[in-house]
Amino acid sequence: MLDLQGFYENRIFPRMLNVADRAFRRERAHLLGEAAGDVLEIGIGTGNSLEYYSQQMTSLTGIEPHKGLLEQAQARLQALDVRLAERVTLVEGDAGQLPFADDSFDTVVAFLVFCTLPDPARAAAEVRRVLRPGGRLLFFEHVQAGTRSLARWQQRCNPLWRHLACGCNLNRDTRRTFEAAGFQIRMLSSYRHPKILLPLVAPVILGEAGLSPSASA
Ligand SMILES: C[S@@+](CC[C@H](N)C(=O)[O-])C[C@H]1O[C@@H](n2cnc3c(N)ncnc32)[C@H](O)[C@@H]1O
Repeated sequence: MLDLQGFYENRIFPRMLNVADRAFRRERAHLLGEAAGDVLEIGIGTGNSLEYYSQQMTSLTGIEPHKGLLEQAQARLQALDVRLAERVTLVEGDAGQLPFADDSFDTVVAFLVFCTLPDPARAAAEVRRVLRPGGRLLFFEHVQAGTRSLARWQQRCNPLWRHLACGCNLNRDTRRTFEAAGFQIRMLSSYRHPKILLPLVAPVILGEAGLSPSASA
């Protein structure tokens, strides 16, 4: 029997991600160029970030639970410059249960992923666990709007959106999730993305967080 949901998730949705990604080139260049040392990218998807990492990145581990997306990232990796590709490892797995020892990474990247994680608080705690003392969490996420009327519309439309966008949520307060996990926001730009035409998804945050002294003790 034709598996319509599987077809949508494996064929249509990845294409939509790749097309939508054109809007985010500026943010990728800005954020991923900053990623240094041993880097973990959670929810790496089809590997849209891969080409943006700089020489500052010593090693990159990309984790992704969706097999179909991970295969696309793998194919993209083959096409990259070998000097970059040989520093990259792609792993099938869940950000809520990271298969890495404590203090494994200098940088963790979250690019449009906390909207989709089934348990964002748990993933934030896992990110905190695997970051080395002094490590950085670099993030770009679409989030709950700061204005009440738009936030209300996000709330109303969320059930349908979540269904259409493979688990993505319009109404996450990701900054609060990071702070509740013990992160200190060190840099934050909060804006409506000029290239996202759908207002429900336009509120975004771009920034950097580190462990607050009490959390890393
Ligand atoms: C909107 S897509 C963004 C993909 C990629 N970060 C990008 O920028 O193109 C959200 C990603 O989160 C992944 N994801 C969903 N649940 C996850 C989990 N439990 N752990 C890690 N990643 C997850 C999805 O499979 C998908 O790749």
